Amino acid sequence: MAFKAPRGTRDMLPLESDKWNFVERKFRELCYNYNFAEIRTPVFEETELFVRSAGEESDVVKKEMYIFKDRGGRELALRPEGTAGVVRAYLEHSLHNNAQPVKLFYYGPMFRYDRPQAGRQRQFYQMGIEIFGTKDPASDVEVIKFTADFFSKLGFKDLKLHINSVGCPECRPLFQKDLEEFARTKISLLCGDCRKRALNNPLRLLDCKNDSCREVMKDSSPINAYLCSSCGTHFEDVLKLLKALNISFYVDSGLVRGLDYYTNTAFEFLSCQLGSQNALGGGGRYDNLVEHCGGPQVPGVGMAVGVERILLALEKEELFPVKDQPEGVFLAVESTDLWEERFNLLYLLRDNDFRVETDYLNRSLKAQMKFANRNSFRFVIIMGVEDKSKGIVKLRDMVNGEQVELSFEKIPAFLRKKIE
Ligand code: HAM
Repeated sequence: MAFKAPRGTRDMLPLESDKWNFVERKFRELCYNYNFAEIRTPVFEETELFVRSAGEESDVVKKEMYIFKDRGGRELALRPEGTAGVVRAYLEHSLHNNAQPVKLFYYGPMFRYDRPQAGRQRQFYQMGIEIFGTKDPASDVEVIKFTADFFSKLGFKDLKLHINSVGCPECRPLFQKDLEEFARTKISLLCGDCRKRALNNPLRLLDCKNDSCREVMKDSSPINAYLCSSCGTHFEDVLKLLKALNISFYVDSGLVRGLDYYTNTAFEFLSCQLGSQNALGGGGRYDNLVEHCGGPQVPGVGMAVGVERILLALEKEELFPVKDQPEGVFLAVESTDLWEERFNLLYLLRDNDFRVETDYLNRSLKAQMKFANRNSFRFVIIMGVEDKSKGIVKLRDMVNGEQVELSFEKIPAFLRKKIE
């Protein structure tokens, strides 16, 4: 039986890679503008890091992690998200001793064992940013503005920003108590998982994926009513700044996000083009996570976007730039006897930074021209047997059909001028 990519994973084929590169380029450009520096962390970490950060009761940890023991008996997990590893690296390399805030970005594969569907995979890519060392509401807004700018650079026009505050360990307990009591009165209507959640981590009742549980919990009192004064002020300041920057938002009091580490701001960007997996990205503030992972009290805020979902939404909205103009040079030869001249010219042009291809299948000259045309080469150099003695080649511009005769040495300068 032929091998297939594992369920929930996808191959990225060359045609698609242009689209990935387009999204990645926009992200990197924006990271540069916003002064975020790149960090790369391993795709697996100690399992305990994710249990401690995302929370034992979160779906991500409880149901979706790829966990394994290595041959040395270490308990490891493929990362289900990027923030925990970045926090671990921030601490391991004592980045808290650097001038703060420390602003980092990352891009890489994440792994969650969930039921695959459109926009939900078991291996997916995230692009994320994190800011450590400031509680300033302006840094929450910087993360949100970055995300909004990123989406608008990609061409999206009508994404929805949902925002909420999930409070802090001071104000959340009372909310959680009331939530638990509310859940008890509806316990027969809740799924098995939510019955356990009601006891162990009532906040998680609010992000059950089960529609009937969502319907029941819709009537519980919203967290906003419980915020302590500092959380309330922080949230108001964030909203004020968003308004000042003309960023539209919707305060969604049911938004708590699926990871336990959030404090205060939580947000998501939603696309109406996608079905149930409509969150293109999300994030929030996590002021106790660094300490919780064994470090000093350092606040943080960040977000991550899902690349596959972005690609799906771009596709649906037909936002990919039209296919690139023809480019590059195809070096066609009349006879394989000309191999020495051909390879000299091929490498001369590549040394001069041109994108150049030649024929390796002994095709006829006509077939080589057809190949060049189909593969959108802008120029074709034709090396004929008769031309060899004269030391020249023919160079055809495939866009307008113009053809000139040139000696080898003149080709780089000629091409450069044409391309400019
Ligand atoms: P998250 O909301 O779990 O947040 O994931 C961020 C984004 O990753 C989602 O909005 C979605 O676009 C994409 N995503 C998540 N799961 C899948 C999946 N199974 N298949 C395809 N795409 C998926 C986090 O991971 C946080 N670490 C974000 C953050 C950074 N918060 C603070 N800093």
